[in-house]
Parts: sequence; structure tokens; C-alpha cells
Amino acid sequence: MDLMEYQAKQLFAKHDVPVTEGIVADTPEEAKAAAEKLGVVVVKAQVKAGGRGKAGGVKLAKTPDEAFEHASNILGMQIKGLTVNRVLIAPAASIEEEYYFSFLLDRSNRQYLCIASVEGGVEIEEVAKTNPDAVKQIGIDPGTGVDEAKAREIVAEAKFPEALTEQAVQTVLSLWKVFVEEDATLVEVNPLARLAGDKLEALDGKVSLDDNASEFRHPDHEAFEDKAAADPLEAKAKEKGLNYVKLDGQVGIIGNGAGLVMSTLDVVAYAGEAHGGVKPANFLDIGGGANAQVMADGLDVILGDEQVKSVFVNVFGGITACDEVAKGIVGALNILGDEASKPLVVRLDGNNVDLGRQILDEANHPLVTMVDTMDGAADKAAELANA
Ligand SMILES: Nc1ncnc2c1ncn2[C@@H]1O[C@H](COP(=O)(O)OP(=O)(O)OP(=O)(O)O)[C@@H](O)[C@H]1O
Ligand SMILES: [Mg+2]
Repeated sequence: MDLMEYQAKQLFAKHDVPVTEGIVADTPEEAKAAAEKLGVVVVKAQVKAGGRGKAGGVKLAKTPDEAFEHASNILGMQIKGLTVNRVLIAPAASIEEEYYFSFLLDRSNRQYLCIASVEGGVEIEEVAKTNPDAVKQIGIDPGTGVDEAKAREIVAEAKFPEALTEQAVQTVLSLWKVFVEEDATLVEVNPLARLAGDKLEALDGKVSLDDNASEFRHPDHEAFEDKAAADPLEAKAKEKGLNYVKLDGQVGIIGNGAGLVMSTLDVVAYAGEAHGGVKPANFLDIGGGANAQVMADGLDVILGDEQVKSVFVNVFGGITACDEVAKGIVGALNILGDEASKPLVVRLDGNNVDLGRQILDEANHPLVTMVDTMDGAADKAAELANA
């Protein structure tokens, strides 16, 4: 889960990263009221995209009326395809220098990585291209992490000014706490600013949290979820504990095991080329224990997608054998009754396949077509979606 700036700043404050949280506003009136409290402010678009400043989503307001005006313009604005529904009213800081700092997961090297530069700010991507030496990359051993010595090494390597060394070391340690204790996969500060009076402060924040950890280790992270923005089908699937991602094609996909589902998406996309360019409508992995209820939940979510014209159920019987899956499909169709109205193409293989096919044959449901091979079934599902 990616956080908005104001949420990232809440976590920064919790772990003693120097930050001013500001006030969140959903209307120009609220923005004005916030500016009345805070004085000269910066009105900042809250969207999960970088480059807000360059897009006109960060504006200085010297008076409450100016804050009102900027908020009116920024709220509703589109930044990289995302609508701004909320602004952060932050006290204007007097900036002397802007630095870049981040911790992230470096999957290819199986470690963490710190990226730091004293040439931060909105042009950091440009700096990385034209002057890569100014952007330091420091690997972090996951076994030892960032202790004080490592924080000093990072600060020296990044060439933070001497007057800021001690503050920078403390800030690096605090950001590391955010990264580890909140189970983040990214913590980024741009700009980490040197303010008048040699004070270091995080003026922006980007944090990505690891959802797999959030669900059971951080019940408080749920508050960060933007329920209104979530796709209603994805929300429903999540409620039922299904691994579902909505895509924008026409062939609904259900499979067991993420690998099988991914290859099913490929096969359907390929088969779709011969049938009017139809594409997969979703990713849905029903996992190991595909009983009737799980199958019904999955079908229910997929059939709720208006774009879906046909459904491809692709199951390889393993621990849950094909006869169980077949019973699941028949049971699901019974549970759904009239709500199941789109053709289903079923391909079963693996453990107890003959019995599974026999169960489906005997059920003889008018919506179900059985096809023996994955390619054949993908072709049939694509054909039905294009009919
Ligand atoms: N509180 C503040 N006071 C004064 N200036 C600010 C403040 N917050 C941001 N700025 C200025 O606006 C610029 C852009 O702000 P910010 O980094 O928050 O947004 P951004 O454009 O989304 O950044 P990024 O490109 O890193 O995503 C900063 O580099 C800084 O110069
Ligand atoms: Mg920024």
C-alpha cells in the first residue's frame, strides 16, 4: 500500500523524524481555516504520484484567501491521471538546501539500499541522469541493518554538510525505524530540507507499506486505506479473502495457484487476438482448498464485473483433487442460481481428473463447456467473449 504524503508524515512523526504534519483539507473552506491557524502555508495536492510540484499541485499561499484560491484550483485537478481529493496545508518553510534520501528494497541484490543526494528537490530524476555521481547508493546488509556506525557512513558518503552531521545521523536512524518497524518497502524523503538556522526537516514523504505484513502485524495500518478509491470488486474479493486483481478485458479468469493463473492470462491474451482482441478481465487465484463456497465467492466477484462476457475456470487438481473442484463448480452454480448468467469454460486436469469431468458431465449445466486442454479452453472462452 502506497501512502499519501500526509500519512507518511504521520509515521515520520511517530518515529521522531523531524517533520511538521500540517493540516489536511478536503474543501477550500477547510484550507482557508487551516491557513488562518498556520500563517503562510504551502497548499499541497495529496495524490499517490511524484512530480506534484511540477504539475502545479504545490503552491505557496501568503494569506488564508490565497490558500482558499489555491485549494479551489488544486482540488479536482488531475495529476498523472489521479484526481486530487485532498490537500495538505503545511506551514511554509524557509528552505536553504534540498536533499534526497530513501531506503528501499533492493530485490536483485537481496539487500536494502539507501539512496541519498545533496542535490535533491523536484529535479532529482534529472540529476540522476546528468550527474549520477551526485546520487549515492549505499547497500545495507539486512542482517545488520542501520546502526549508528552505518548511519554515519551513509551521512559521510552522501556528503551532508558538517553543520548538519549529528541531525542527519539521527534522522537516518529514525527513517530506518520507520522502514523496519512499519514494515515498509520504501521510505523516501524529497526534499529533506536544510532550513534557516541549520535545521533539517522532512518536507515531503513517500512510504510504501508491505501489505503482507500490514494485515497481521499492523492493524493500525488499515486506517491508511482509501476505501472510497478502492475498486468495489477488489474490495469485495478482499473481504472474502480472495487474491483478485481487476483488469480491463472481457474473459473472467479463475485458477488455482498464482503461477497457473498468470500463464492462463497469457494464454487467454494470445487466444483473444484471433477473437476480436478480447483480453483477460482479471487475475483470480482461488488457492489450494477450492471448495464450493470459495468457487462461488470467486464466480460471484467475477460475474459482478459488467465487462466480463465469459469465464475461464482453469484448475489443476493437486491437493484439492478435480472431483472436489468439479463439485465446487456445480455447488457454486447452485448457490448463485440466476446470478450466474455468463458462459463458463472449464478445463480440469491433474488428480482425479476423470471423476471431476464425470461430475460436470452429469450436472450437464447449460452454461458450462468442458475443454480438455488449456489452449483449447482459452480459445473457446475468447470465442464466447467475442460472440
Ligand atoms: N512546506 C514547504 N515549505 C516551502 N516549500 C515547500 C514546502 N513543501 C514543499 N516545498 C517546495 O515544493 C517542492 C515540491 O514539493 P514536494 O516535494 O512535497 O512535492 P513533489 O513535487 O511531489 O515532489 P516529488 O517530485 O519528490 O514527488 C519542494 O521541493 C520544495 O521546494
Ligand atoms: Mg517531493
